Amino acid sequence: MSLEIESFFNKDLPVSSAKYTGMPKYNFIGGNNSKDNIPINELIESANQTLKKNGKNLALYGHNSGPQGNLSLRNFICAYLKDYADMELNTDNVLITSGSLQALDLVNSIFLKSGDTVLVEEATYGGALSRLKNKGVKYEGIKLTEDGICAAHLEDTVKELNKKNIFPKFLYTIPTVQNPTGTIMSEERRFEILKIAKKYNFLIFEDDCYADLIWNRSRPKAFYSLTEDSRVIYCGSFSKSIAPALRIGYVVAGWEVISKILSIKNDGGSGAIEQMMLADFCSKNYAKHVEKLVRDLKTKCDIMVGALEKEFGSVAEFSVPPGGIFIWITLPDSIDTKKLSIIAAEKGITINPGCEWVSNPDSGMHKMRLCFANPEIDIITEGIKKLSSLCYEEFGVPEISGNVERTV
Ligand SMILES: Cc1ncc(COP(=O)(O)O)c(C=O)c1O
Repeated sequence: MSLEIESFFNKDLPVSSAKYTGMPKYNFIGGNNSKDNIPINELIESANQTLKKNGKNLALYGHNSGPQGNLSLRNFICAYLKDYADMELNTDNVLITSGSLQALDLVNSIFLKSGDTVLVEEATYGGALSRLKNKGVKYEGIKLTEDGICAAHLEDTVKELNKKNIFPKFLYTIPTVQNPTGTIMSEERRFEILKIAKKYNFLIFEDDCYADLIWNRSRPKAFYSLTEDSRVIYCGSFSKSIAPALRIGYVVAGWEVISKILSIKNDGGSGAIEQMMLADFCSKNYAKHVEKLVRDLKTKCDIMVGALEKEFGSVAEFSVPPGGIFIWITLPDSIDTKKLSIIAAEKGITINPGCEWVSNPDSGMHKMRLCFANPEIDIITEGIKKLSSLCYEEFGVPEISGNVERTV
């Protein structure tokens, strides 16, 4: 009898993954970094030194540092976040995770069950949305402005939900270089949002993984620093600032939350070599490394803005981001970006269609997200030119009147 393995699978699983087909030539998706920005020499030196000094600790399940992850790395994170985001913490507030994706999974797991509702920004990280969907969690999108979440819309939405006896557990937000819009929420807006969270009693889950990549390296205080209680759960990552394949992220929260997460983080600890190496690297090189990375990203951003203006002109509407790795673009109603993404992928150009990056898929039909961090400069220029040709071949040249003004 032949084996029908499908019939054995848990019926609640998401759809199976597609087979990996390799990196496209014109890669404008994902949170990849540029190969040229990996600080190889410094990482080799840190790996060498730290393995010689602490390598024998690999015999332990991290017991030398405790289940929350490498203590030196947690010390670095505390000092860095105090200095950069005004966050007052100690090492008990920090838990190292395998990328911030694991942080998302862990935080979701301690707070959410199927049928629960959370609040999200109307355009947000596709990976966060798919996680919620897979858990059977509903989400309500809140309008965004150039200054971050619209406070009035947030309050109206929560009021309406409460009337229906629905009490959202948390607001998931990416306030500092928002994914995908690139906006930075002002400090004033953060206070307003926090006030609403206190009034209607929901938590704030602050995902700050792009916060280090601001061109002028100046940021508003983190939500986490604006309240004394445990209302804010914060997560960060070294994926965007050093390398995504390190798979090192972290959760910052009050001990009640950290201790609850520890009770379900049953992977025996996140990879220890990476943490040791990173602790050494960061204490010596982080500031200098990020300074150069941000300079290079800004150059690539300028190149992509220039290419979009040249090839798409006023057909592409977007704000020039103040940092980060992507541009969020609105195209005319005649252009379906999901269809464009399929046609473009066949020619080796990958883009994120807007429908995967919004709470209401219809609102993203004519939008796309383009990442500029990974491709080299000439590939960006060439790829945008090819993308515009494919777009016009498929959808025609839309009629647009007037010039666009770009906000920065
Ligand atoms: C907003 C946001 N959060 C979390 C992640 C996950 O990153 P990682 O698991 O590599 O830290 C990403 C990746 O693109 C992201 O954009």
